[in-house]
Amino acid sequence: MKEDLSKILCSAISQADISYFITDKDGKIIFVNPAFEKSTGYSFQEIEGKTPGILRSGKHNKEFYQNLWETIKKGEKFKSRIINKKKDATIYTVFLSIQPVIIDGEIKYYLGREENIDSLIQLEGKLIESQKMESLATMTGELAHNFNNLLTVVIGSMELISEDLKENSPTKKLAAELLRSAKEQTKTIKQLMVFARKQSGSAERKVCDLNETVKDLLPLIESQVGAKIKVFFEPQEKNCNSEIDESQIKQALLNLTSNAKDAIDGNGEIKIKTYFLKNFSEEKEPYHIGEYCVIEIQDNGPGIPEKDLDHIFEPFYTTKPKGKGTGLGLSSVYGILKNHGGYVYASNIKPKGASFKIYIPRAIK
Ligand SMILES: Nc1ncnc2c1ncn2[C@@H]1O[C@H](COP(=O)(O)OP(=O)(O)OP(=O)(O)O)[C@@H](O)[C@H]1O
Ligand SMILES: [Mg+2]
Repeated sequence: MKEDLSKILCSAISQADISYFITDKDGKIIFVNPAFEKSTGYSFQEIEGKTPGILRSGKHNKEFYQNLWETIKKGEKFKSRIINKKKDATIYTVFLSIQPVIIDGEIKYYLGREENIDSLIQLEGKLIESQKMESLATMTGELAHNFNNLLTVVIGSMELISEDLKENSPTKKLAAELLRSAKEQTKTIKQLMVFARKQSGSAERKVCDLNETVKDLLPLIESQVGAKIKVFFEPQEKNCNSEIDESQIKQALLNLTSNAKDAIDGNGEIKIKTYFLKNFSEEKEPYHIGEYCVIEIQDNGPGIPEKDLDHIFEPFYTTKPKGKGTGLGLSSVYGILKNHGGYVYASNIKPKGASFKIYIPRAIK
């Protein structure tokens, strides 16, 4: 039996997961679909006869809405991003399009369509963030490279000069202090070069099972974090094979567990999990195409304040007191992962704590 077209249209719009609404020519709502009710929190009964102005968030000026009305009254389509407010006052962003419905040559209704783009905006933010990190890395790389050359000359010359100075003389002591300080700076420069992926020498890469890499490192992690913090290793997959510079990846893991220890500051636990990134469409992170092995390090410390989350991978960003942290730990982790074609992401977990996930491309044999 052939279905009636209006029944088909009605069912299609009711079942769509994009919000639709229809107003009369004065802008009074005469229909909304269930997706609209779900995304705004208003039932059709509550909103019938009202105008979509009920969703106004206060984020757009009068001219914006004037322009909207002028456009659609002229019989043209209006399309724009718009920030709306739900019944419970939550703000959300949609891509709105409104088009006049013309019957017998006259505008009788308006059909509105709203697609929520909050997650798209979040991804945009992450993309901008990663571009910012890349320019920071380029700039840091140039500076660190030049400084490294300068320090090499300074250290080499000072060593030669020092040889000619009299033992126990004030100048000899001064030279020793200068050398110590220059060598100290070399360490910082080396870490900056890891961030900027400008290390000299080609990395030693081999295919490793990341489960074995973590297992190997466990005794060192346990002694690093001390007896008050329990470390659990929970491999969730076998053969987490990736081509890595194992010493670099171990260094990255130690930086993360050292941070977890500092965050916990007393009794607590660190969980290390390994798994594959199987279904990247479920992930919020933007760049995953291909297969990855993931090492996730979770702690039950206080977590990372929202205001710090966007900055913690930047060199010298630290919330620790002077002399306690240099703020170079996570920027090294960032550089090491980038060097492996991978990524590192931080987030907070429930009920409390931080999670760092490192993604390393999977070696498929
Ligand atoms: N597991 C964590 N829980 C809470 N905050 C964290 C965690 N890991 C890192 N952070 C925050 O990120 C900041 C930057 O970390 P990063 O390792 O780069 O530097 P640092 O630990 O402060 O100093 P450094 O590692 O050079 O000694 C820390 O100061 C801290 O505020
Ligand atoms: Mg650190």
